[in-house]
Formats: sequence, C-alpha cells, structure tokens
Amino acid sequence: METKVWHVDKNVEEKINYSQIVDAARVIRDGELLAFPTETVYGLGANALSDEAVEKIYTAKGRPSDNPLIVHIGSLSQLSAVASFVPPKALKLIEAFWPGPLTLFLPKTEAVAGRVTAGLDTVGVRMPDHPLALALIQEAGVPIAAPSANRSGRPSPTSAAHVLADLDGRIAGVLDGGPTGVGVESTTIDMTAEPPVIHRPGGITYEQIKAVIGEVLVDAAVTDSKQAQPLSPGMKYTHYAPEGQMWIVSGEAAAARQQMLHMLAEAKREGKKTGVLAVEEKAEWWRRQESADVVISCGSSSELESVARELYSCLRQFDDHQVEFIVSEAFPTSGIGLAVMNRLEKAAGGRIIRV
Ligand code: TXA
Ligand code: MG
Repeated sequence: METKVWHVDKNVEEKINYSQIVDAARVIRDGELLAFPTETVYGLGANALSDEAVEKIYTAKGRPSDNPLIVHIGSLSQLSAVASFVPPKALKLIEAFWPGPLTLFLPKTEAVAGRVTAGLDTVGVRMPDHPLALALIQEAGVPIAAPSANRSGRPSPTSAAHVLADLDGRIAGVLDGGPTGVGVESTTIDMTAEPPVIHRPGGITYEQIKAVIGEVLVDAAVTDSKQAQPLSPGMKYTHYAPEGQMWIVSGEAAAARQQMLHMLAEAKREGKKTGVLAVEEKAEWWRRQESADVVISCGSSSELESVARELYSCLRQFDDHQVEFIVSEAFPTSGIGLAVMNRLEKAAGGRIIRV
C-alpha cells in the first residue's frame, strides 16, 4: 500500500487547508487508517464505530489484541455517543482540561466497536487540543479510535517522519502537522473508580487533577515498575524502548555521574557502542569526558516540559546511531516529571540503579 502524506501548516490556523482535511477525513470514512497529529503524539486513527476498521490498527502496529484504544472526539456533543454515563467528577475534569491531554475511562455505549475496548466495559475518551485533529474528527463525522502511531514497543512518534519510519506502506495516509507539543501521551484516569485512579501519568499532572477533584490515586505500577501488575493492559508491555539496552542511574549528582562513567567504561570494554542521555546543561560536560560514543542532549533541567517534548525523539536518535548501551540520569517526579520518569523506566525495561 502506498502511504499518502498531506503536509498541513497548523501554526497559521487561518491557513488550514480544508480540502486536505476533507481528503484525509475520507480515509477514515472509507474504513482505512490515517495517522494524524495531536498535542501529545501522533495517533493512528480509524473509525471508532467500525470493528473492521479498528482491527486494521492492531495489524498495522503489531499490537497485542488485549490492549484497548483511546477514542478521540471533536466536540462535546460526541461524548454521549461513546460514554453511557459521565460522573460529576469527570464533568469537572472535562470543564478544566478539555480539549487537552487527559483521557477519561468511562462506561461505554453499545455504539463503540468491541475491538476498541478489547472486551472491557469502559472506554477511554479524550478531546485532543490540536486544530488539525479537531478539524479531522469533525469532518470525518465519527469518533476516531487512535493509539500512538508507532509499531508496538517503539517510542511514540512526535513527528510525521517518526510515523513513516515505523508505518510507511502499512497505512493509507499521514496528516503531517509538524512536531507535536507535549511530547508524552495523555494522562489516563479511571473515572469509574472511587476515588479515581491515574493509570498513566501524562500531559495533565497529578497535581493539576488533584486541585480540581480532590483525592486521586496513582496506580502503584506507575512509580514502581517491579512491584505490581499495572491496571491498564497497555502499561504492562515493555514500551517506548530504543533498540539498545538502557539503564537509568538515580541519586546524588556526583555519585550518579561516577556510576554512569563506570558503566560506560565497562560497556566499552565489552566492545559496545555507548550513549548518554543528558539535559542540555550537562551534555557538554559529557562530550568533554569522551566516555560515550554518542551524547544526546534532551531538554533542559530548568524546564521538564522540554524534556517531555523531546524525549521520544531523543530515544529514537540512539537507534539512528545504532547505540547498544545507553545510560540516562533520573529526573524529579513532580509535575510532568512523573510522566517523564515513567516513560524512561519503561524504555529501560525497569533497569534502574540507585546510588
Ligand atoms: O496522548 C495519547 O493518549 C495518544 C494520542 C494519540 O491520543 N494515544 C495513546 O494511545 O497513547 P495508546 O493506545 O498508545 O495508549 C492507550 C493506553 C494503553 O495503555 C491502554 O491499555 C489504556 O490506555 N486503555 C485504553 N482504554 C482503556 C480502558 N478502557 N481501561 C483501561 N485502560 C485503557
Ligand atoms: Mg502507545
């Protein structure tokens, strides 16, 4: 299959070329797969009301069939088509954070294709904060089921080039709206539980949610990858991973640095190509050490949002350089840092060393 690419400049809203949106929306209406930008990462979309269309997502991604998808809506009027009940606390979160990077698990309606929810009786719903995504959903006239548009297990795509690297020839089209903004996926929260439980930290932080609805829990598996079976099926798989083996070193800065130097030297002795993931403030220092073959600078420690925005692209760069052994420092887990550390831990397959 030839994958068609529509380049749309979303930064100049007046310039959204609606004839391109109309073409792209036809892909969804025809029951085929279209990758599109959201504010978090690119999604791989299909008509959420069609089992046949949704099935193609699992095939294209190589996604385990027990892993449910998020449904994206373009207006609040579409919510009742997919959710049979919206608890008062969910309404408060919608009011505060939609459109935005927050997915609510709600009781599903009959209309939602069974393949979307992988047999669960809840459905994950969100309204993305991206003009192209919203225009696309409205033009398609149906809610769009979309996981991240990567091959299963790979880092999520934050550009159309990442999507094509994974899925060129396997999907009907890509709507290219440039790089995404948040960089990590939406926060997911089960609103059928009392108190509600965050399954995956993301673009809307624990602190922000707590400020709106009060008590909220976080799945124990989010902060301790070894401790518990995660509540969401998708969170149990090794994820977001570069091809090289990655380790995270956490602890006091000087001690962590020593540990990282030691590990890099050891890996080099074993003949491995080595890499370091470091914030831009520290990248120069690492380059001067010449202890690693590749140093990838990833955001600034003074603004963890920038680390989130660049993280997946940084992880993919290690693959571009065929790095076999990667060390990364750890990040504080407040605010968006909780999502950054959760993704890093998954990329590392739980390999963390505390010094
Ligand atoms: O930002 C995002 O959320 C992106 C963009 C494209 O919207 N989407 C995304 O989808 O990250 P995906 O499929 O990569 O991750 C969805 C996560 C998985 O861990 C899945 O298991 C979980 O949400 N999930 C979906 N529906 C669920 C449900 N009803 N109950 C429990 N977990 C659910
Ligand atoms: Mg994903």
